[in-house]
Amino acid sequence: MGYEAHFRVWRGDAGAGELRDFRVEVNEGEVVLDVIHRLQATQCPDLAVRWNCKAGKCGSCSAEINGRPRLLCMTRMSVFAEDETVTVTPMRSFPVVRDLVTDVSFNYEKAREIPSFHPPTGTAPGEYRMRQVDVERSQEFRKCIECFLCQNTCHVIRDHDDNKRAFSGPRYLMRVAELEMHPLDSHGETGGDRRELAQAEHGLGFCNITKCCTEVCPEHIRITDNALIPLKERVVDRHYDPLFGLFRRRKD
Ligand code: SF4
Ligand code: F3S
Ligand code: FES
Repeated sequence: MGYEAHFRVWRGDAGAGELRDFRVEVNEGEVVLDVIHRLQATQCPDLAVRWNCKAGKCGSCSAEINGRPRLLCMTRMSVFAEDETVTVTPMRSFPVVRDLVTDVSFNYEKAREIPSFHPPTGTAPGEYRMRQVDVERSQEFRKCIECFLCQNTCHVIRDHDDNKRAFSGPRYLMRVAELEMHPLDSHGETGGDRRELAQAEHGLGFCNITKCCTEVCPEHIRITDNALIPLKERVVDRHYDPLFGLFRRRKD
């Protein structure tokens, strides 16, 4: 059965903005993005919203619904009471472009700072061998759709914009962890060390394991337990392993 919902949508740009109230028709089985599209079609043709697949796979439609970071296309209207006000605002951790669209280039900059996979020198394609358990570990991380909801949620940057310089956020620390756990990654051959990089360049130490990133991930990736905590353990091993310390002193 259809009904009319009360929507409160943030409208504005980088300079200023405000929440505006609308009454919008809702039909059975619809998601929040359907209602936003109806709002565009019937009342606000210039309402800016980013979306693409409407299937939870492109990661474009990230926003905040009643203050909770979510995908607009994967949030069913049936989770709200018919008399409840549904408030839709842009992601808070990134600069607003217009209405519900934010500038997420911070994330692409952080992605570019991570050295790519480096196969062992002298190993020809086709000679790579990995155990199934190692393959499966990175499969989970590769489900990421780059929606940036985890980045938007992590309090390290959500509450402290200045930290963006020193902290890459859960999505990119997870990428460093993925490469660090890869048995064939030989970034160390180039003189680099991904554990040092995680700590010094990507701000792993800022993460105090609050797990908010994991809670909002639409792909249910266990970012904290399976990527960030193991990466922290590897960093600790590197710095406090007495044998490694001895070896390092000799090399120095
Ligand atoms: Fe989105 Fe999850 Fe990827 Fe973060 S890890 S960008 S929440 S899919
Ligand atoms: Fe932030 Fe996730 Fe760590 S929310 S503090 S990156 S566990
Ligand atoms: Fe692609 Fe929502 S439109 S994830």
